[in-house]
Order: sequence, then structure tokens, then C-alpha cells
Amino acid sequence: MTTERIRGISSFIVMDVLEKAHEMERSGVNIIHLEVGEPDFDTPACVKAAACKALENGHTHYTHSLGMIELREAICQYYADAYGVSVDPGRVVVGSGTSPVMFVLFSALLEDGDEVIISDPHYACYPNFITFMKGVPVTVPVHEEDGFQFRPEEIERRISARTRGVFINSPSNPTGNLLSAERMEQIAALSPQVISDEIYHGLVYEGEEHSILEFTDDAFVLNGFSKLYAMTGLRLGYLIAPERFIRPIQKVMQNFFISANAMVQVAGIAALKEAGPDVARMKATYNQRRVYMVRRLKELGFGITVEPTGAFYIFANAKHLSNDSYRLAFDILEKAHVGVTPGIDFGQNGEGYLRFSYANSMENIEEGMKRLERYLSKRS
Ligand SMILES: Cc1ncc(COP(=O)(O)O)c(C=O)c1O
Repeated sequence: MTTERIRGISSFIVMDVLEKAHEMERSGVNIIHLEVGEPDFDTPACVKAAACKALENGHTHYTHSLGMIELREAICQYYADAYGVSVDPGRVVVGSGTSPVMFVLFSALLEDGDEVIISDPHYACYPNFITFMKGVPVTVPVHEEDGFQFRPEEIERRISARTRGVFINSPSNPTGNLLSAERMEQIAALSPQVISDEIYHGLVYEGEEHSILEFTDDAFVLNGFSKLYAMTGLRLGYLIAPERFIRPIQKVMQNFFISANAMVQVAGIAALKEAGPDVARMKATYNQRRVYMVRRLKELGFGITVEPTGAFYIFANAKHLSNDSYRLAFDILEKAHVGVTPGIDFGQNGEGYLRFSYANSMENIEEGMKRLERYLSKRS
């Protein structure tokens, strides 16, 4: 028998789609994967070289529990260059991915029954992090006509004596949209602390992303190397927290994680300092795919009211096809051999939508769109 804590968390539906796709592939079916939220690019050569060199140079031991100081300094320099904000390296906690530091953050922030406000739709794992720590996720619907941006007044209405944080994610997974500076400023001015997941920063094709630290220092930033630097499997991420939280968080890091992988931290320094040209190349390619995919999905009749300008996702309205996105996604997989993520994976308000990822080659995206076109013509 497992614990109530584990029974309280849901599975990640996109993994069900992926597992079914893999089963079909094993029986010889060719699948176009537009469901995965993982860069298709190889990790930049400078990052791989730095990791190999780090191994040779003996970076095979524990590091400081908050992360190597050189990496924490490089992260602060990156935030200074990108957003003009000054962050002390003593406020940075490095972990093996954004996910583990999110876990640590909620362990430090939440008492039983404390509330965290999240958008609906939202990144599928957020409510699970919160409920696992005995907190309560409070959802605020965001709307297609607003480009799925939070309305600050709707957040305000849900603030209670138990609210410990407001989660923002811009550019967002699953919508690919950005939160405007004006709305971020308004949200930062509300009483709960903001938790800003900035993992898709740098992958912005129109407009500009903003760090929450431009508006307030009393906030939490989550960020990592998985997306921007195509380093998902290397596992590296970080948290920037107000100083008073660092010592308590450090106790958790010391006891439960000891430190992030040493060699990967050295690779992270190389990513921040040397991978700029690689990021520019990947970003330009993502943008070409984005423009193409938005156009094709619209031609195929999907609703995209506000074009996404960040991350590598398009959250398309498919309500004219079905109000059961789970069944629709499996139908598309089985009949068109294209993997897409059902909107319901991202919350009740995501029902009726499908998330398409353009983290795949242009050739595969073109083929995926052709298959979808054939599938739709047979339905009608
Ligand atoms: C919004 C968001 N936050 C966090 C993560 C987790 O990233 P990491 O690989 O750094 O644990 C993801 C991964 O898909 C994500 O989409």
C-alpha cells in the first residue's frame, strides 16, 4: 500500500501518449512526435567539452550544498546582463534540475493547508508539487482571448489568509505566451510572494520576457538549463530566493541531496559563458518552425487567437473537433500517427485544446501537418 501523499498526485498524461506512441513504434509504425517538451537539438559542443574536461580534471566529488560558487556567480552575471538586476550569489541554490529545487522550495514554504495560486492551464506538475507538500493549489482560469495571461484582479479575488504564493510561468508551458510587464508588475504588488518559473526565458521570438526580479526582490525565481541549452538529461537547475529562506533551504539540500552533480555544474558555467551562439542558432530555427506551424494549424482550422511568441509550444483550440482532448489525442495518434498532448493534462480549463510542440525538425513538422490534414479530411 502506498501513502496518501503519493495517492494524491496524478500521473503525467503526456507520458501515456508517449508510451502508447513507443508501443506503436515497436510494432513498426512511424510516429511524428509533436507531444514532447524536450529540445530536439544536440547539447552544445562547448557544454559537452566542458563536462568531459571537468571529469578529467577531477570534478567528481561533492560540491558546496548550494552549488559551486563559480556557477552561482555566473548565474548572477547572467541575470545582471539579461535583466539589469543585481543578485547576490548567496541567494542562489543550485540543484539537479528545476524540478528538485521546486520540490525544495515548497518544502520550505508550505505548512499543511497553505495555498498557492496557479493558472489554469498550467504546467502539469505544479499542482502535484504543491499537494505533495500538503499545500492546496488554487486555480485561476486564464483565457484564450487574453493570450492566456493572468488577470491580476482574478488573482486578487482568490487571495486568502492561507495564500503563500502566486506561481507565474512566462513564457508558459503549455501556451507559449508571455505575461506582459504591466501585469507582472501588478502581480508583484499583491501581498503573496511570486514564484516565477523562468525556465523558458531566452526562447522568446517576439516581444520581451521579464524576470520577476525586475519588479521585486522578495520573490522566488526557478530556472534551469534543460530548455535553453538543450541539457535536459544533464539535470541542472537553480532557485533564487530571498535571503531569509536560504539557510532553511540549505538544510534541506544538505540532508536530502548533498549537492548537484559536480561535473554538470562545470558544464553549466560553460553554457552560460560560451553557448550564446548555439542558443542564437537554436532560437532562429525554433522561430522558423513556430511561424510555419502556426500558419499550418490555422489553415487546418485550429483556433489560435493570440499567436504564441515563446517556449516551443502552440496551445490550439480544438473544441470544434471534440471536447474530450484525451480521446482526441489518442485518436490522432492511432489514425494519423502524430503524437500531440491533450489540453486536459494542463488543467480543467485546458480541456478542448491540444498542445503541439515544435521541438522537432522542420521536415517532421511538415510531415506531421500533412498527416493531420489527411486525418481531418477523413473526419469531415
Ligand atoms: C514550466 C516547466 N518548469 C519546469 C520544468 C522542469 O524542468 P527541469 O528539466 O529543469 O527539471 C519543465 C519541464 O518540462 C517545464 O516545462
